[in-house]
Amino acid sequence: MSDATNLRRQAVLLTGASRGLGRHTALRLARAGMRVALCARDRSALEGVAHEVEALGGEALVCPLDLRDAAQIDAAVTRTLDAFGRIDVLINNAGLGWYKPFTEWTREEIDTVLSVNLAGLIHLTHAVLPHMLERGSGYLVNVASDIGRRVIPNMAAYVAAKHGVVGFSGALLREVKDRGIRVSVLLPGIIDTYFGGGEEGSRDPSWSLHPADVAAVIETLLRQPPGLVLDEVTLHPLGQEF
Ligand SMILES: NC(=O)c1ccc[n+]([C@@H]2O[C@H](COP(=O)([O-])OP(=O)(O)OC[C@H]3O[C@@H](n4cnc5c(N)ncnc54)[C@H](OP(=O)(O)O)[C@@H]3O)[C@@H](O)[C@H]2O)c1
Repeated sequence: MSDATNLRRQAVLLTGASRGLGRHTALRLARAGMRVALCARDRSALEGVAHEVEALGGEALVCPLDLRDAAQIDAAVTRTLDAFGRIDVLINNAGLGWYKPFTEWTREEIDTVLSVNLAGLIHLTHAVLPHMLERGSGYLVNVASDIGRRVIPNMAAYVAAKHGVVGFSGALLREVKDRGIRVSVLLPGIIDTYFGGGEEGSRDPSWSLHPADVAAVIETLLRQPPGLVLDEVTLHPLGQEF
């Protein structure tokens, strides 16, 4: 692992920062000295996370964003660039899904899963990437799921979106890697968060990952030396069937 100080003052735009894995990632990266733009829809939850970051001596920007809205995506990028002057790292973490037979999914739920988990991630990347290319460096971390590489029933639209994230990430890496940009895609198994209407702390740790441990893996990705990328990283709790 390279110098533990090399993330200091780097600016990260993080989606899904209001709770769950995103909140733990914000706190982890703030401890490493990064400046964090906190994006999600719930402004008051973001303000709570910002206070936690500031209590650690870190710097946070509250940046409300609904990933289904292109204008809000552009506004979040502009706001982050205005505040921090740069975006070194984009972490596309926001996501949601439900577990039920496909015919019980409403059309609105299908659209939401595809637009937040896949189209929103692609549009936000499209908005940030030109600034990274201009500077000749940058790091994109896309949070997919182990379901981005395997399939399960009752989450078909979610499976489709996460397979899309894995494909997008690998294709983009090959396009931009020679211009100083790295792309990692993370494929975690079950994480103990609010996902699917759950409550953080309610899942058995024998078959669920602690979100702080997944956040630590994200920090490890960012700390790799510039010529190395962990392009696809899968992690599971040992008690999960996979
Ligand atoms: N938990 C698991 O078992 C698991 C396993 C594998 C992968 N993942 C992935 O891990 C990532 C983080 O999820 P999590 O487990 O931390 O779930 P979570 O606790 O429910 O957090 C989801 C985050 O996504 C944000 N979000 C939802 N809809 C949004 C929208 N329209 N626009 C912007 N942000 C939105 C939420 O904020 P607001 O509601 O405030 O907008 C929240 O911050 C997701 O991509 C998920 O698919 C989770």
